[in-house]
Amino acid sequence: MLKKQLLSPFPLLLIFLNFITTSAQSPAQAPASPIVLSPPAPPTVLAPAPPTVPLLAPQALAPTKGSPNIYTILKKASQFTTFIQLLKITQVGDQINIQLSKNQRLTIFAPPDNAFANLKTGTLNKLTDQQQSELLQFHVLTSFFSGAQFQTVSNPLPTEAGSGGRFPFNVTTTSNSVNITTGIVNATVTHTIFSDNQVAVYQVDKVLLPYDIFGPPAPAAAPVPSKPKKKAPFADADSPSGSSNDDASVIPSGAIGLVYHALNPICFIVSIIAAISL
Ligand SMILES: *[C@@H]1O[C@H](CO)[C@@H](O)[C@H](O)[C@H]1NC(C)=O
Ligand SMILES: *[C@@H]1O[C@H](CO)[C@@H](O)[C@H](O)[C@H]1NC(C)=O
Ligand SMILES: *[C@@H]1O[C@H](CO)[C@@H](O)[C@H](O)[C@H]1NC(C)=O
Repeated sequence: MLKKQLLSPFPLLLIFLNFITTSAQSPAQAPASPIVLSPPAPPTVLAPAPPTVPLLAPQALAPTKGSPNIYTILKKASQFTTFIQLLKITQVGDQINIQLSKNQRLTIFAPPDNAFANLKTGTLNKLTDQQQSELLQFHVLTSFFSGAQFQTVSNPLPTEAGSGGRFPFNVTTTSNSVNITTGIVNATVTHTIFSDNQVAVYQVDKVLLPYDIFGPPAPAAAPVPSKPKKKAPFADADSPSGSSNDDASVIPSGAIGLVYHALNPICFIVSIIAAISL
């Protein structure tokens, strides 16, 4: 009896984990599913009119019924294999889809495969698990910006990667171009991949490298109270020096990331079993 009660979280946990993984791939079912913390608000917002983006003309992609799905949007656009892969490995893409299903407004900057290929060899391998997540979240703004709205933003703009003034970037515009300056790279917004007044996805010509990761190390007394120190136990395991293939350099760290994420639920289950057996 007691044991049964203790064991009961397992099926729930497994169902929950299963739901998380499957919901990312089946956006059509998402609104009907019992998403945790979901507010009672109606799940669908049908854009009444085509978005007005005078600066950057949107590509012909009709707004989807139900909430948009970042993987679907990027797959349709093609050329974003690496970005999709990293969104999945870090689970940042899953977070984005959950936010979208709650009608949160987002702006996402998507670097194409050639932008990742142009990175210095080993750039991604050097990152810890947390830094990989931050790098991906750095490509997401938690509000919707049309191309024209970029002309009136006040810099610096906070990204999803950080709070308290960390992980911002600046946007500069002329009448026909939008550039992003991170302090490490200057990137240009090349065109609109998707826009439906809830989420805008823009292609950028470079991977946005955050100053908070790629800049000089912060002094020891830096005011960073809430974030743990960025050092993964396997950070030194990668040896990018011998690698000459950027695609290959993404995969190994990705595999480590997957194993790492897979371990979390396993550790959780093991600790529950240990608790029961005491
Ligand atoms: C954006 O960057 C491009 C290429 O580096 C440059 O030619 C252009 O002048 C920049 N525009 C702005 C508004 O900074
Ligand atoms: C971003 O803009 C702010 C405010 O104008 C400025 O202080 C900062 O130096 C800029 N950062 C970069 C990387 O251009
Ligand atoms: C980015 O642009 C600014 C001015 O527009 C320039 O000072 C800086 O050197 C550029 N940085 C890179 C990495 O190109």
